[in-house]
Amino acid sequence: MESNRPVRLLFVCLGNICRSPLAEGVFLHLAREAGVEGLFEVDSAGTGAWHVGEAPDPRSAEVAIQHGVKLRGRARSVQAADFATFDLILGMDSDNIRNLERLPKTDTTRARVMLFREFDPESDGDLSVPDPYYGGADGFDRMFDIIHRSCTALLRKLLEAHDR
Ligand code: 4NP
Repeated sequence: MESNRPVRLLFVCLGNICRSPLAEGVFLHLAREAGVEGLFEVDSAGTGAWHVGEAPDPRSAEVAIQHGVKLRGRARSVQAADFATFDLILGMDSDNIRNLERLPKTDTTRARVMLFREFDPESDGDLSVPDPYYGGADGFDRMFDIIHRSCTALLRKLLEAHDR
């Protein structure tokens, strides 16, 4: 990665209202805390378009606020151009990855597509961030823990690569 411009990260889930806005918000929060916000450009998107234009799900916004994180943005769907713009596209589950692989790409694809939870040191082989949309509040708490651990490790890895 070129070191003279920000590393561009795109977090992707299905609806872009629960998991990926939280991952975007938590990553930005951690980067700010570490004083390295300027090294990154962060966004999120969904592979589905049902919620385009909506604010983050109130349950995700609530669990974020409980941890001092303010979510931002409106839902949008992944575009072909994202594969040219972003360095790293991080899917929240394997369905997201499959959907990303099916999307048309431009000739200038730069993005590496990965499962976000590959960075979770406690994944225990389960590489999906479970979709909390149809469940209860405990699913949102569990989602926060997974996303916080994964973002912490992802930030550490990216900073190591940057300093190398
Ligand atoms: P997300 O959660 O992919 O984490 O934003 C979902 C949001 C909406 C739906 C499914 C998952 N939905 O079916 O509308």
